[in-house]
Amino acid sequence: MIICVTNQKGGVGKTTSVSALSGAFGKMGKQVIAIDLDPQGNLSSSLGYDDPEKTIEGVLFDQYDVEESLHKVNDHLLLAPCTKSLGSFEIEMLNKIGREKILSKKIGHLEEHCDLLLLDTPPSLNLLTVNALSLAQDVLVPINAEKFSIEGLKEVLLTIDMIRDEINPKLSFAGAFFTMFNRQKLLSKAMEQEVTTMIGEEHLFKTKVRVNVALQEAYTLGQLVYDYAPDSPGAKDYLKIAEEYLKKMSLAK
Ligand SMILES: Nc1ncnc2c1ncn2[C@@H]1O[C@H](COP(=O)(O)OP(=O)(O)OP(=O)(O)O)[C@@H](O)[C@H]1O
Ligand SMILES: [Mg+2]
Repeated sequence: MIICVTNQKGGVGKTTSVSALSGAFGKMGKQVIAIDLDPQGNLSSSLGYDDPEKTIEGVLFDQYDVEESLHKVNDHLLLAPCTKSLGSFEIEMLNKIGREKILSKKIGHLEEHCDLLLLDTPPSLNLLTVNALSLAQDVLVPINAEKFSIEGLKEVLLTIDMIRDEINPKLSFAGAFFTMFNRQKLLSKAMEQEVTTMIGEEHLFKTKVRVNVALQEAYTLGQLVYDYAPDSPGAKDYLKIAEEYLKKMSLAK
């Protein structure tokens, strides 16, 4: 299964979610590959790879095979990191025919080598995000309850429809979940109602990821939250999101 974690809005918890969910699926015994498709390189550094030599841009720019770019995080998780040179992808590929499918061509076969392939995306609908959505089967959308990111969710839903119609008929919206949720806040409750109305109860994850400093600390220290603070609320919440996702999947398929 290939999952794209995306939201065009910045700072909603995409990268934290890819890192923590990759760790959570690994803890559940799955083999996971995570791909950093955001030139900010936050996923790479949050998993301990700050200045990698072999990167996903090297793969996309035809320098070597994706297998060479895979770095071991633990026995259950491999990472294809990036650096800021991935930022030139859009310009480099400007005149290339089939540019939306470059990622699929280069890494599509990895699906056979793992249970779950997770893609982190930049906070915009650029060519990298389009490539991620062209490859993915499922889209997961983190929504930051602290920021008003419902607009971002609307845009993602429109984008999914567009990509499904034009490029990737297999693409499906797996659901949205709240990150940085604070039950006490009125705004969080109001947002929950609005999102439920917009996407339907079946598409909103029951688990909400609470505001939790351990997630932030693990991220900054370049560690999985399951190594840094396995009993923290953040670690537990993401494990539940991973369980909910796998349950939804087996029901749907
Ligand atoms: N549940 C949480 N509790 C506390 N802090 C969090 C939580 N989730 C994420 N953060 C922090 O919020 C900030 C933004 O998170 P993150 O980088 O994952 O968002 P993003 O959507 O990937 O951002 P960008 O759009 O820039 O890629 C980070 O500092 C992260 O550590
Ligand atoms: Mg990010």
